[in-house]
Amino acid sequence: MKKVLITGSLGQIGSELVERLRKDLGNDNVIATDIRKLDGNPVCTEGIFEILDVMNYDNFLAIAKKYHVDTVIHLAALLSATAEKNPKFGWDLNMGGLMNALDVAKELKTKFFAPSSIAAYGPDANPNHTPQDTVMHPTTMYGVTKVAGELLANYYHTRYGVDSRSVRFPGLISYKSEPGGGTSDYNVDMFYQALLKGSYECYLAEGTKMDMMYMDDAIDAIINLLNADPKKLVHRNSFNITAFSLAPEELFAAIKKHIPDFKLSYKIDPVKQAIADSWPNSIDDSDAKKEWGFKPEFDVDKMTKEMLVKLTEKFKKEGKLK
Ligand code: SER
Repeated sequence: MKKVLITGSLGQIGSELVERLRKDLGNDNVIATDIRKLDGNPVCTEGIFEILDVMNYDNFLAIAKKYHVDTVIHLAALLSATAEKNPKFGWDLNMGGLMNALDVAKELKTKFFAPSSIAAYGPDANPNHTPQDTVMHPTTMYGVTKVAGELLANYYHTRYGVDSRSVRFPGLISYKSEPGGGTSDYNVDMFYQALLKGSYECYLAEGTKMDMMYMDDAIDAIINLLNADPKKLVHRNSFNITAFSLAPEELFAAIKKHIPDFKLSYKIDPVKQAIADSWPNSIDDSDAKKEWGFKPEFDVDKMTKEMLVKLTEKFKKEGKLK
């Protein structure tokens, strides 16, 4: 991996991955793309940035060719709650964009990464310590596109030799850019409201367990999997990875240790609750550990401390906190 094209670069994962890869590979070796340009955003201003609609194959291929990339990281997609609002668009974008990205990788013989998710599992999978290889019958459009996407990426590997790799991300927690349209987004929002309001109204019910991970570990996972020795990979699309499993009241308790007056209340969003209920409580990531040495650095307490410190700095800079 020497020269990388990233789609969906302005998203929650993309904005941090672009920053990290620019540091690791040099500014000229990271081609950040997104469907929109945000003036003043470092992703667009501090290195190479191109507008790219992943549904436009010719444009996608032309940009990848222009920069002679050797790796495509495809992040552009609708997340679970947004896809549930518009399932047809969710299918069209998540599958059409992925197929175009895989075709670019096939045409230019590049390495390939696209994330899958805990959402690829459905309610009939064992919800606790869900095995890597088990029944996958998701009941959300997002989950349907993730399972189909895993199969498609495996197909491109066996049929065309595309070096495709993927992880099933849990809910990701980060402070630099906010998530958008996911079911797990309450985790980031809880930190924001803890600092800005001192109280949080959660749209998921008490006891709704879900795997989560701090963004630094997620970025390391992408890079480490892409750099892993292919001979050691039994699986490819996709590896379970997780750092910890939390319910809202457990994340609340971790934050409350630092902000003793923090208050939590609940107002359930039935659509998001149904999505979360169909996902595992915790997944088994032993194959990722075995096949490419996955090892998260952040546990709940370390993540909580870092989030509160970084968000406090950010809010002070923005004049939202004194
Ligand atoms: N975090 C994502 C979501 O909530 C799942 O991959 O949609």
